[in-house]
Amino acid sequence: MGHGIARAFAAGDWSVVLWDSHSAALDQAVATVNADRPNAARAASSLEESVSVADVIVEALPEQLELKRAFLAEVDRYNTAAMVTSNTSAIRITDIAAESDYAHRVVGTHWWNPPHIINVVEVAGGDRTDPAVRATAVEHLTALGKQVIVVEKDVNGFIGNRMQFALWREAMSMLENGVADARTIDTVARETFGRRLAAMGPLENADYIGLDLTRSILGWILPTLSADTNPSRLLDAAVTSGELGAKSGQGLLEWRDGDRERAKARLEQHLLGTTPSP
Ligand SMILES: NC(=O)c1ccc[n+]([C@@H]2O[C@H](COP(=O)([O-])OP(=O)(O)OC[C@H]3O[C@@H](n4cnc5c(N)ncnc54)[C@H](O)[C@@H]3O)[C@@H](O)[C@H]2O)c1
Repeated sequence: MGHGIARAFAAGDWSVVLWDSHSAALDQAVATVNADRPNAARAASSLEESVSVADVIVEALPEQLELKRAFLAEVDRYNTAAMVTSNTSAIRITDIAAESDYAHRVVGTHWWNPPHIINVVEVAGGDRTDPAVRATAVEHLTALGKQVIVVEKDVNGFIGNRMQFALWREAMSMLENGVADARTIDTVARETFGRRLAAMGPLENADYIGLDLTRSILGWILPTLSADTNPSRLLDAAVTSGELGAKSGQGLLEWRDGDRERAKARLEQHLLGTTPSP
């Protein structure tokens, strides 16, 4: 996500300094940004160098609280004035900034993948975020041409991922309970309500079919839906045995050579509204 976000800032005429502890990822990210905008990005030789000169710091580290907190502690040593934005998908900003003396300047800006195609960025402050910092983040993103959604409460997963992962929990529960196989569950999601969602969100849809019918359906279905508060046993078992999905060749589905690239192209073509090549 980091290089995608950097591309968006570079397109908005920001000069971008990138840092990644993995040198191949760093070189690739600089090359990707500069392919769009020559000389817009350069690689730093350390985290200190990258953050000490910055006005805005964007954190796009793996989704681990301790990693994000350690990063923030280091940033606090080198630059206490810049705004720090986290691209977390699921952790509250209050929790990420809990150990920082400069939590007022930490704000969540959740970009969606792929960031150069999906235009929405969700923005949320934590309990100690200065409202003026959140407002400035909104201004910067709006100036980049983004559709900014302000999330009023600092909840895990912003708005989008709370809804998205409620669906994934139920899909995995049905798979685990033998309701259908993985491809069948995905086909129903894609070909039925998945088609409708881009035109009509769930709350408008509830009004559209009538709240009396909505209430009746929920009365039957809610008691039977998964209410698991931990990732499912199926998921635990897969991860423990190294079945990580596309990157390992086996996940909930089987992934053969080229499948991941084809899925990426199909997704991007769909999002861009172009016709997939045969
Ligand atoms: N992938 C998505 O679809 C998506 C969408 C929205 C938000 N996010 C969020 O964005 C963040 C990054 O996700 P991603 O999918 O880009 O992850 P990723 O694993 O692809 O990239 C993380 C990068 O961080 C680098 N890194 C790891 N530890 C480091 C350290 N200590 N110092 C410097 N660099 C380090 C890695 O080398 C890697 O290049 C996560 O918080 C994730 O939840 C991801």
